[in-house]
Amino acid sequence: MLIDHDVIVLGAGLAGMRAALEAARNGADVAIVTKVHPIRSHSSAAQGGINAALGEGDTWESHAYDTIKGSDFLADQDAVEIMCREAPSDIVEFEHMGVIFYRNQDGKLGTRAFGGASQARTYFVGDITGQALLVTLYDQILKAGVKVYEEWFATTLYIEDGACRGLVAIEMTAGELHLLRAKAVIDAAGGLGRLFEPSTNALICTGDGYALAYRAGAPLMDMEMVQYHPTTLAGSGFLMSEAARGEGAYLLNAEHDRFLKNYAPNKMELAARDVISRAETTEIAAGRGIEGNVLLDLRHVGPDVILKKLPQIHEMAIDYLGIDMIKEPVPVRPGMHYHMGGVKTDIDGATACPGLYAAGEVACVSVHGGNRLGANSLLDTIVFGRRSGKAAAAYVTHASSPRGGENLLRSEQQRIEELLARPYTGETHARLRLELAVTMDQKVGVYRNEAGLQEALGKVEELQQRYARLAVGDKGRVFNQALTFALEVGFLLDCAGAVIRSAILRKESRGAHARTDYPERNDAEWLKHVLVSYRAGAAPAIAYLPVTITHWKPEVRSY
Ligand code: FUM
Repeated sequence: MLIDHDVIVLGAGLAGMRAALEAARNGADVAIVTKVHPIRSHSSAAQGGINAALGEGDTWESHAYDTIKGSDFLADQDAVEIMCREAPSDIVEFEHMGVIFYRNQDGKLGTRAFGGASQARTYFVGDITGQALLVTLYDQILKAGVKVYEEWFATTLYIEDGACRGLVAIEMTAGELHLLRAKAVIDAAGGLGRLFEPSTNALICTGDGYALAYRAGAPLMDMEMVQYHPTTLAGSGFLMSEAARGEGAYLLNAEHDRFLKNYAPNKMELAARDVISRAETTEIAAGRGIEGNVLLDLRHVGPDVILKKLPQIHEMAIDYLGIDMIKEPVPVRPGMHYHMGGVKTDIDGATACPGLYAAGEVACVSVHGGNRLGANSLLDTIVFGRRSGKAAAAYVTHASSPRGGENLLRSEQQRIEELLARPYTGETHARLRLELAVTMDQKVGVYRNEAGLQEALGKVEELQQRYARLAVGDKGRVFNQALTFALEVGFLLDCAGAVIRSAILRKESRGAHARTDYPERNDAEWLKHVLVSYRAGAAPAIAYLPVTITHWKPEVRSY
């Protein structure tokens, strides 16, 4: 089937739905293509809150400085300025849409402290902030008449005369492929967290939007910058929100010592995430962990705060470990959580490929640099989702309508048929994915070095060869997840190559990229972004871009 719209948004998380809403408000005929129901998007897992300098005495400049310092001076400061200046009005807009943010005793919007921030500027809904924003936004897009193709899985972007003109997607419930044409596409397909095992990310976070844009010619930037969250639950790796530390929780080692006094004496548990994850990893390696974990202790905070402000994580610790945080500390460890890099965009979401925009975790407008501050990701999604939607709606007013695409649809149908027809050899997508993700965690995690990164690259090359022969066990058409999981492994392998190659290139330590063989930050040589561009059958092309510095000169970073 051929389907036409002005703007197609890939992904229905906060960035995607915010982009769709804004494009529709600006007169475009908009559709969303999403592989899961919108409110199952991974934004629903965001717990702790969203930042804005909205309170008395706070300023966008202070928020911007904290963000830039948090990024270890790799963020582009023009983009950070936009995000921090526009944050207050965007939060108020969500409040007016119906999000019931926490209010303090004076009845005003109340905040909690978050890591790396010099002020408590995180607005929240208990520990389910992402979910609260997402369901509200879903109402809004339905009201605005945005068409949603849910459980449609994108296999490729459609490029015509060098511009992005839509995409091909599998309608999963029927197993049919369709060409959706558009004058502009907004890639808001989310992160690549499942490239690592364990990860706080949902199983759907498989880097689809990175790989699709990359294969279409859009460069990826800052791919080496992978964030490990300091508090993920022992065993499962589920997120235990930074909000716990914002509400006063301590991190303790096996000696019940608040070890952060040795790493971040001024901010302690509210230092930036990269700093705390390294401190925990060091403590555990030095034998001061408890079976590979440290302890998150909320006992002194009291049941009232725990039950009212952190009910979800309280319940999770009981459900998964049988631990009641009111009475006992809970074991946690650093776990992969977020990716700062992505498809390079300008401040309006435009990528290097005309007609292709990107927003949210898949994009790199460069507001997070080497390390994102907690509660800045929800903010990034709504600010740059809105800006991308507006820019795409303006673009389609002068872009011509796509004409062809039938050949692409036929070749994608053939590619999928061939994959389904391939005889099953016993190799599974699940094994490839697990081997990949465990390698990434072990060799491309909190600490890295040349030997480990080269080993990881070798493993990815081996997995790519095995992937080329992978067959799909389920030969059916209806909701064939063996097929879509196999396609996801292909996306993840492309992402892995880009992450590892970028990490090998950056011969310094900055933000989340901590190299034991280059332990210092090196502004003289590395105050720049690494960009990788896809080349079929060859190693990617590499380029560098200077960091945009406006007001804040790089300085020594300590907490
Ligand atoms: O810890 C958290 O609640 C996570 C927030 C974030 O990644 O922004």
